[in-house]
Amino acid sequence: MMKSVFIGSGAYLPQRAIANDELSKTIDTSDEWIVARTGIRRRHVAAEGEFTSDLAYEAAKEALASAGMKASELDLIVLATATPDETFPATATVVQTRLGVAGIGAFDVQAVCTGFIYALAVANNFIKAGQSRNVLVIGAETFSRILDWQDRATCVLFGDGAGAVVLRAEPDQGNGARGIMSTHLHADGQHHDMLYVDGGPSSTRTTGHLRMKGKEVFRHAVVNLAQVVNEALQANDLEAEAIDWLVPHQANKRIIDHTAKKLKLPPEKVVLTVEEHGNTSAASVPLALHEAVSDGRITPGDVILMEAMGGGFTWGAVLARW
Ligand code: UT7
Repeated sequence: MMKSVFIGSGAYLPQRAIANDELSKTIDTSDEWIVARTGIRRRHVAAEGEFTSDLAYEAAKEALASAGMKASELDLIVLATATPDETFPATATVVQTRLGVAGIGAFDVQAVCTGFIYALAVANNFIKAGQSRNVLVIGAETFSRILDWQDRATCVLFGDGAGAVVLRAEPDQGNGARGIMSTHLHADGQHHDMLYVDGGPSSTRTTGHLRMKGKEVFRHAVVNLAQVVNEALQANDLEAEAIDWLVPHQANKRIIDHTAKKLKLPPEKVVLTVEEHGNTSAASVPLALHEAVSDGRITPGDVILMEAMGGGFTWGAVLARW
C-alpha cells in the first residue's frame, strides 16, 4: 500500500486587500462589529480580469518549486473550487494547460469550504490505489464574484485566494512516518437553504449570489467540527495532545476557538489566518497550511489536523504527519 506524503506547498493572494473600514464606507457595518464577531480585519479581492485559475496557477507554481518538482512529473491535478472560471470546463484543465502538462488527469472537486479536504481525500485515494504517484492538489476561489456587496451579513466575511500542495506516493511505513494518516468526509444536503448560491446553469441560468443564515451555520459548524476532529483522532488511536498543529478552515475565529477549546489545544498550536484573509472557502486550509510551513512553524514529522465545514452542508477532516 502507498502513502501520500506532502512534499511542497504554495499560496497566492490577490494584491488588493480591503480593510474593514473601507467596507464601512459603503455598507452599514464597522471594524468593531466585524472584528468582534468574526476576527476578520481584511480580505484580498481579485483584480478585474483576474480569475480563479490565475490564483490557482500562482499557488501551483510555488508548490511545485518548493517540492523541487517539475510540472512534467505530475500525473494528476485535483482542484477544489466553488467559483470556477466558467461553468465548464474544469478550472483544473486551465491550470493544467498553463503548467504545460497536457494529457494527465485534471478535474475539479466541489464541496465549497470543505473543498480542499475533499480534494485531499480524493488525491490520497488515487495514490493509495496505486493509480497516481505525484498529485497537485489546489484550493482556489474568487468568492468576491458571488457576493451580494449590499448584504452586510455576508459580504464582510469572504475573500479570494489560492493554496496548493504536492503529494507524492511513498511506500506506507505506518503512522509514525510522514504522510496522510486518514481522511473523513461528511455531507448532509437537507441543510441546503442555510448556505447556498441562488443561481446556477440548470436552475436560474445566472451565476447568483451567496445566501447564508449565519447563526444556523455557526451552530452546525461547532457541532460538526467537534464530531469530525474526534472521529479523526479515534480512527488513529490518538489523543488530542498528539496534535502539533490545528490547521482549521478560517471562517470565524469564534468557531476556531471553540474547536481548539474542545480539543484542549493551546492557541499557540492553532494556525490562524482569518484576520488577514477572511473566509476564502476551499483556499482557506491550504493558505493557512502554507503560511505555517513557510514561516517554519510546521516542520517535517509534525502531526497536523486539518478540518473544514461549508455549504451543503459538507464537513470533513484530514489527519497527517507533515
Ligand atoms: O465557511 C462556511 C461556513 N460559514 C460560517 O462558518 C459562518 C458562520 N456564521 C458566523 O460566522 C456568524 O453567524 C456571523 C459572523 C455570520 C454572524 O455573527 P452572529 O453573532 O451570528 O450575528 P447575527 O447574524 O446574529 O447578527 C447580529 C446582529 C444583527 O442585528 P440585530 O438583528 O441584532 O439588530 C445583524 O443584523 O448584527 C447585525 N449584523 C451586522 N452588523 C454590523 C449582521 N452583519 C453585520 C455587519 N455589521 N456586517
